[in-house]
Amino acid sequence: MFRKLKPKIPMEKNRKISSNSSLEILLREDLDAIRLNLVHLARKAADHAYAPYSNFRVGAAVVLEDGQTFWANNQENICFPVGVCAERILLGYTHANFPHLKPEILVIAALKSDNTGLATVTPCGLCRQSISEFEMKFKAPIEILMCRPDETLLRAEGIDQLLPYKFEDLNR
Ligand code: THU
Repeated sequence: MFRKLKPKIPMEKNRKISSNSSLEILLREDLDAIRLNLVHLARKAADHAYAPYSNFRVGAAVVLEDGQTFWANNQENICFPVGVCAERILLGYTHANFPHLKPEILVIAALKSDNTGLATVTPCGLCRQSISEFEMKFKAPIEILMCRPDETLLRAEGIDQLLPYKFEDLNR
């Protein structure tokens, strides 16, 4: 029944669009002082997350183009959809207060719910779209570092590596 509704369409190779996004794996020793500090701040921010419903505590830290650093964490709500991720709290705050300063590097860290260390985290779809908005506004990529449980990090050189085929044009 389902097969009949979705017949396989024969497709020639030249009618395919594909993306080859890639992430780098960084070791701690690859990090310079600025990035190391952001990792520290993101982990500290995760400690103070308000996540009583998921117990998944996320911290994010950012450095703006003038060198200022800020951090934030996820803020949940008993009405689950009202909760906001660490990344959007952080970028919303920095853009509200420093609308002309480009966010350069964003670091994300999450803590395991049983408190035994770092959890694996990559930005959710809403946060990816939000990061994309700031890249569009400032016309430059934002580096995204994602902490991993084994203390290595994933590095995306910009949101394209996490959000291929992103929504970015209302007039095309
Ligand atoms: N969360 C973040 O804050 N950032 C992410 O990148 C992934 C998810 C939060 C949302 C929610 O409070 C909890 O983690 C579980 O999804």
